[in-house]
Amino acid sequence: MSTPARHILVTSALPYANGPIHLGHLVEYIQTDIWVRFQKLRGHRCTYVCADDAHGTPIMLRAQQEGIEPAELIARIGAEHQADFDGFLIAFDQYHSTHSPENRRFAELIYTRLDAAGHIERRTIRQSYDPEREMFLPDRFIKGECPRCGAADQYGDACEVCGATYSPTDLRNPRSVLSGATPVERESEHYFFRLADFEDTLRTWIAEGHIQHEIANKLAEWFHDGLQAWDISRDAPYWGFEIPGAPGKYFYVWLDAPIGYMASFKHYCDRTGLDFDAYWRPDSSAELYHFIGKDIAYFHTLFWPAMLHGAGFRKPSAVFCHGFLTVNGQKMSKSRGTFIKARTYLDHLRPEYLRYYFASKLSDRVDDIDLSLDDFQLRVNSDLVGKFVNIASRCAGFINRQFDGRLATALPDASLYATFVAAGDSIAEAYERREFSRAMREVMALADRANQYVDEHKPWVLAKDPARSHDVQAVCTQGINLFRALAVYLAPVLPRLAADVAEFLATPQPHWTDLQTPLLGHVIAPFKPLLARIDPAQVEALLADSRESLAPTAAVPPPAAAVAPLAPTVAIDDFMKVDLRIARIDAAQAVAEADKLLRLTLDLGGETRTVFAGIKAKYTPDELVGRLTVVVANLAPRKMRFGVSEGMVLAAGDDAGGIFLLAPDTGATPGMRVK
Ligand code: MSP
Ligand code: ZN
Repeated sequence: MSTPARHILVTSALPYANGPIHLGHLVEYIQTDIWVRFQKLRGHRCTYVCADDAHGTPIMLRAQQEGIEPAELIARIGAEHQADFDGFLIAFDQYHSTHSPENRRFAELIYTRLDAAGHIERRTIRQSYDPEREMFLPDRFIKGECPRCGAADQYGDACEVCGATYSPTDLRNPRSVLSGATPVERESEHYFFRLADFEDTLRTWIAEGHIQHEIANKLAEWFHDGLQAWDISRDAPYWGFEIPGAPGKYFYVWLDAPIGYMASFKHYCDRTGLDFDAYWRPDSSAELYHFIGKDIAYFHTLFWPAMLHGAGFRKPSAVFCHGFLTVNGQKMSKSRGTFIKARTYLDHLRPEYLRYYFASKLSDRVDDIDLSLDDFQLRVNSDLVGKFVNIASRCAGFINRQFDGRLATALPDASLYATFVAAGDSIAEAYERREFSRAMREVMALADRANQYVDEHKPWVLAKDPARSHDVQAVCTQGINLFRALAVYLAPVLPRLAADVAEFLATPQPHWTDLQTPLLGHVIAPFKPLLARIDPAQVEALLADSRESLAPTAAVPPPAAAVAPLAPTVAIDDFMKVDLRIARIDAAQAVAEADKLLRLTLDLGGETRTVFAGIKAKYTPDELVGRLTVVVANLAPRKMRFGVSEGMVLAAGDDAGGIFLLAPDTGATPGMRVK
């Protein structure tokens, strides 16, 4: 090895312990694993740690829902995660949990040091509180109507219909998702980490180039908006670590989550005797890298380095951010069957296929990456099976059958082999820079040259001429040595295949530098097929299975009875006689004498109408005011007991008594014709 061995600590983000690993997550774990395996193959001391992110409200509530203790839930999900990672050949040196003694110790230590240095402030804030469940509600656990567009059923932080962002106290008719109760406002003292104290440190750190340009640009915006103090405490009941000296207050899950990197590594050090402090003291010469998705950059490029610095630890050497996975060009979707769980994939396909496909797509950039299922099959079948494995299967048979498995004692084209060895520098550089797609392109270009070599020398023709037997052995020895070089270059991506190749070559698994010496005069094992093509039926079955995992769970009641039979057909002309308009509900009142009716005052774009609607069972008058709906505007007025109804509003309904008032998409205005 020309360069001295480096000491490198690598992490992937800690997956939440309340859901399964899916293909989106795997972009990150596969990317990191490839990089780590590459570093190890190059002879560096590289340690890869991860853990389950086991704290927080969603985990607490999910455990309650299942009627078990959170500790039981996180143990079960942790085991599932690890089995999934194993299945994808992700080789952590340590997989731990944030709910661990080490993590409690480090969370307390870091907090105490930050507090002692004056970086924690206490402030009383008002927050939504569920009086029935007796707990403060995170924004995501409050729903109501958007204060801007009136859309129903929106979360407490943002409207999915019009995109408005707001605080939960701005919602109209807010309700707790947990109990349905109307949240009240309550005061509570919270603990804040004074991020602004670290502005200079962070600016310097960022300027030193530890993060990608795209992320640095994002950070510039965040700096421009000003660094706000970060709320790191939550009130009981909360599933996490209690804050020392603050009974009933807990560390917010994102405070102890990144500390989990240290905790996992500490566990590893205790197990193996590695020196923890050598990696984490401020002047450490070890390298520390975090692989993360773009959604959590804020935590890793602002809070985390600031916390580390403030508590007297070193900062990361770099934070490597990747984009999000789309499937067939779209966000993963349960109904399309493209929300694919790791386990479901493994039920149908080998992990190497996906590892190779992701490698062929990954770069050092933050761009999203797409898994096009057609391209996936084509790429894997043509590159891995058609090009790479093909080299060995074309040469091995002759060596096995005609020479008892013995390779020739010299290479007929030593300079071609030298080209393959030399190419290793550029491929290594691509891996080092996380330009995996470039590495894969360079390897496949070499595979083309190897196949070309075999094509030109045609061992199958030579084999017919007993006088050329020597040449057959030489050509096939050349082919197998070229194949061996490519197997080393692909080993970080295809570790199991690389192990199978080593078995076939009857050698220990070669390191990068071992390629300097070709394999000559050596007896190889009988060749067994290394990798089958992907059959389109396997991908079909995977999608079908993923769609199935949508089946309603026990907690969700199945949809009500069968659909009502359709009414007789009407001609378009008949339908066009109905004048449907957008109306805004300006006022709504219960009709005291009728238990189903509300009296609505509608604005049809300048014209005001009174309409009686049988929707009292579902809607309170207050929640309707300001909403848009659809009205039959040319219905003959009907005289009713309590007044004249001048139209009819449209609502969907079923036999079970469900009523769902129709509403137009965002942007419609009163009076618009519906057609
Ligand atoms: N628990 C936090 C991370 C704490 S790290 C101290 C978390 N967990 S997560 O399970 O939601 O995500 C884990 C990692 O997977 C994150 O880096 C996230 O960006 C990544 N991905 C999750 N879904 C993804 C895609 N669809 N595509 C690519 N990466 C994705 O965030
Ligand atoms: Zn809205």
